[in-house]
Amino acid sequence: MTHVEAAARAEFLRTELHRHNRLYYVEGKPVISDKEFDMLLRELQDIEAQSPDLLTDDSPTQRVGGAPIEGFTQIKHSVPMMSLDNTYSEEELTAFFTRLQKGLGREKIDCVIEPKVDGVAITIRYENGVLKHGATRGDGQTGDEVTNNLKTIQRLPLRLPKDGPQTFEVRGEVFMPKAVFNKLNKEREEAGEQLFANPRNTTTGALKQLDSKITAKRNLDIVFYGLADATDIDVQSQADMYALLDHTCLRKADLIWRADSAEGLLTAIRELDEKRRSLPYETDGAVIKVNAFADQRELGVTSKAPRWAIAYKYQPEQAETKLIAVDIQVGRTGALTPVARLEPVLVSGSTVSNATLHNYEEIERKDIRVGDIVIIEKAGEIIPAVVSVKKELRSGDEVPLSPPTHCPICGTGVHRDEEQVVIRCPNPHCPEVVKRRIEHFVSRGAMDISGLGESVVAQLVEIKLVRDVADLYALNELLLARLERVGTKSIDNYLKAVEASKQQDPWRLVFGLGILHVGAGGARKLLEHFGSIDAIAAACIEDLTQCPDIGAIVAPSVNGWFHDEENIALLNCLRTAGLNFAQKVIEAASNKLAGTTWVITGTLSEDRETIADTIRANGGKVSSGVSGKTTYLLAGEDAGSKLDKATKLGVKTLIEPEFRAMLA
Ligand code: IVH
Repeated sequence: MTHVEAAARAEFLRTELHRHNRLYYVEGKPVISDKEFDMLLRELQDIEAQSPDLLTDDSPTQRVGGAPIEGFTQIKHSVPMMSLDNTYSEEELTAFFTRLQKGLGREKIDCVIEPKVDGVAITIRYENGVLKHGATRGDGQTGDEVTNNLKTIQRLPLRLPKDGPQTFEVRGEVFMPKAVFNKLNKEREEAGEQLFANPRNTTTGALKQLDSKITAKRNLDIVFYGLADATDIDVQSQADMYALLDHTCLRKADLIWRADSAEGLLTAIRELDEKRRSLPYETDGAVIKVNAFADQRELGVTSKAPRWAIAYKYQPEQAETKLIAVDIQVGRTGALTPVARLEPVLVSGSTVSNATLHNYEEIERKDIRVGDIVIIEKAGEIIPAVVSVKKELRSGDEVPLSPPTHCPICGTGVHRDEEQVVIRCPNPHCPEVVKRRIEHFVSRGAMDISGLGESVVAQLVEIKLVRDVADLYALNELLLARLERVGTKSIDNYLKAVEASKQQDPWRLVFGLGILHVGAGGARKLLEHFGSIDAIAAACIEDLTQCPDIGAIVAPSVNGWFHDEENIALLNCLRTAGLNFAQKVIEAASNKLAGTTWVITGTLSEDRETIADTIRANGGKVSSGVSGKTTYLLAGEDAGSKLDKATKLGVKTLIEPEFRAMLA
């Protein structure tokens, strides 16, 4: 290919990729499969690697993140990024409307009401139709340039449609969708890592990354609510701006109200409060703005905030209760986490009797003592947390807490991590650590040994029948007969489930081993890349970092695990027991199911994993839950809730003969 041909091909690929991105993210109607999209992207990456001069600012390849930078450049905002005055009651909001009426000298004032997105404020400049740069709010006058990190947001257009305004600056809020946050924390929990406190802090952290590849993994999203520099375009009101956002494929708020009286504003904020929990982002209030820009200019600004807008903050879901005790939970990695035991209290419809305290540093910072009256808060779907202490209610009998120096279970002296935040019991034989490790190994997401619930595992560990996961494979009827309150039928089922688990995919085994920082996703990637557990064990740190998603933190953890003598012995026992150490190779059979996503339910002629492999071998994807993205539900006998959901969502349901016919 000549250079001229390469340039033309690159431009073609960029245009195609932008179009497909818009079809997927904005219109929700993809026309090609993820795999086809990746192939176009890879072709463009190859061209850019060969001819770096063909790499443009708006290239979709920039979304996966680029080379790390040394530090952030400062950008001076063309128009200052102000904050908003807050109101906390309907009276205050009515008073705000009265001020608007006085200021403008008339009765009716056209206003818009939007959700206040609890994320991170940013400003983005488009020039000649291309995303030029983006920055954080900073001190309101100057912010950090975070363009590379913003470009990783899939929904954010890097290039604007040709038939609209090409140069302007828009403002909005970057957020981590609640679903992404919950999934991320679940994965962190599985990988034995500290949980993130809330979506907003996680978003701040992701935007502050010098390495945009890390930001790319955080799946951030964005909504826009304002314009900074719109001198050259014809936009005279918030309503005009919404039309501009729609036209340029920039996402606006999902819910917007118009009102021209105080009563109308109140109705809107009440309706928003009813609906805001179903929004994909956290919201902590409503923003009320005067619609017409001419009115906005007439009302003007104070030194901090505009007079034409206000934030109405909803009451966070808080309650007061007494802290009865602080227990120490011992995790699978030995992490010792303080948990608050509370006098049960009702918070937004459910009774709360435990709350997280995150770590001892936080206990110290908030000066939390046993016996204190504390304020707890439940934000969205997040676990309740202790936010503060009512120190004025102290009697003097409250007991301060100090971090444990020894494991409460086995008495071993604790270890602190480098940042001194996580305290761990370093004893691999600590009975509580062993229990947690076995529970993890048998869990559904790992080896899926059904029936071996917490109480059975606890007994097995207590009577020393099981000291490590390999001991599970040495169990027999005679040994299991020593368990209390367990009948012969259950024993028979346990043994069958343990036997069946030997055939599990090896990534499940690697995940089940509970290597620090290795979640289910990481384990899958390791097996996809190396093919067998032995190959992973033989890999040096550098080899490991060649595997997608395995970086500077995970690789040494994996390498260290496989070099530990006890672990080597454990692996040998598991191998002798007959567990599956090598990945089955799924040979691509056809492309007949390309671009389709399947959910399998009910009883079919083969087990689900086998059918899933068949779907994958023919180019399809398999997921566990029915959603708008599901193409087909494959339903066997006794299909239950998934079938109901598919029917509700209008997802096409197939029975097995229809599925087989598609492949024939
Ligand atoms: S309008 C002059 N609309 O709240 C400022 N702000 O406390 C105009 N925010 O810095 C801001 N959602 O980061 C506006 N729908 C929304 C918003 C919103 C969230 C944030 C924004 C702003 C902060 C003010």
